[in-house]
Amino acid sequence: MPSGFYKDSISHFILIFAYHFLAMFQESVHARVFQNYLEKVNFPQEPQHLYDPIRYILSLSGKRIRPLLVLMGAELFDESAVEPALPASAAIEFFHNFSLIHDDIMDVAPLRRGKPTVHQKWNDNVAILSGDALLIKAYQELAKCPTDKIPDLLRIFNATSLEVCEGQQYDMDFEKRAQVSETAYIDMIRLKTSVLLGCALQMGAIIAGADVRSQRSLYDFGVNLGIAFQLQDDILDVYGNPKSFGKQVGGDILSNKKTILFVKLQELICPTDQDQLAYLLNQTIDTEPEKVEKMMGLYAKYDIHTLAIYQKEKFTTIAYEKLMEIQVEADKKQTLFSLADALMHRVQ
Ligand code: IPE
Ligand code: IPE
Ligand code: MG
Ligand code: MG
Ligand code: MG
Repeated sequence: MPSGFYKDSISHFILIFAYHFLAMFQESVHARVFQNYLEKVNFPQEPQHLYDPIRYILSLSGKRIRPLLVLMGAELFDESAVEPALPASAAIEFFHNFSLIHDDIMDVAPLRRGKPTVHQKWNDNVAILSGDALLIKAYQELAKCPTDKIPDLLRIFNATSLEVCEGQQYDMDFEKRAQVSETAYIDMIRLKTSVLLGCALQMGAIIAGADVRSQRSLYDFGVNLGIAFQLQDDILDVYGNPKSFGKQVGGDILSNKKTILFVKLQELICPTDQDQLAYLLNQTIDTEPEKVEKMMGLYAKYDIHTLAIYQKEKFTTIAYEKLMEIQVEADKKQTLFSLADALMHRVQ
């Protein structure tokens, strides 16, 4: 039996295990409570082209990590704060889905959660406006939060939303650049993805009445976890299984995204391979049908996949350290540690 067989079987087993581990969270009490809450949020029937896309994206099987983080952030400091945190968790999930509808237009993405993207199923105009409406629905949910907490919640929610826009703009600007430093890249993903995970946790902590120092450590845990989360997203975009990933595999390569894989390749590439990289960056799928495979060939040559996994583990470790700083009993933090672990190995 070739040794590769054992290696493949073991990694297959790890993947199945990781998949079920994350599924455990998606079937948790919090997930069910959140789903019940969401079902009661009303979206009018008309105009259909405004509200059907919203119903559509919310009905697709997203992981619902961010609302879970709001509820877990609340529970960490006060179990009775989970219920009052539900509107904030809906606000975060609405904001996230709004950002995905617009992100898919910007990234010209055909697939989301294994189904056609909103702009693909309807058109760009429908996707823009239904996205806008979903953002406003997020604010309607925020307005339902405990009144004394609303000023603090609004402050972090607004600051975070603007940061997400900033990150998205850097992400688009970087597509046009041949070189992006690792520092600039990490800052871009911190903004476009990570701060929302930090914000979700901190909103939960605010509703539970946690002190500012604990709020900050929990936010930092979320931001570092979020960086690892986006690194895994970059990795899955190239090495994910199309069946479980639910998005177009290779999409980042096709649009010249500056991902952790690209940044590491650019750091290590020998002068003899520079021309091929420059050539590939100038090609589209029409002029170079094998653009994705050729880029993957370069990644393989420099063992970029392993380096990206190493970076992801590095940020997950920093996240764990931030969680350890928080002054609550260790067993209360266990589910957050487990969630971070499941996310690090996620396949979707
Ligand atoms: C996708 O987020 C966008 C990124 C920040 C990578 P998720 O991977 O959480 O997407 P869903 O909600 O589970 O589909
Ligand atoms: C998305 O990053 C971040 C936001 C939606 C704000 P990506 O563009 O990498 O996310 P996916 O891969 O489309 O989910
Ligand atoms: Mg995208
Ligand atoms: Mg994007
Ligand atoms: Mg992505």
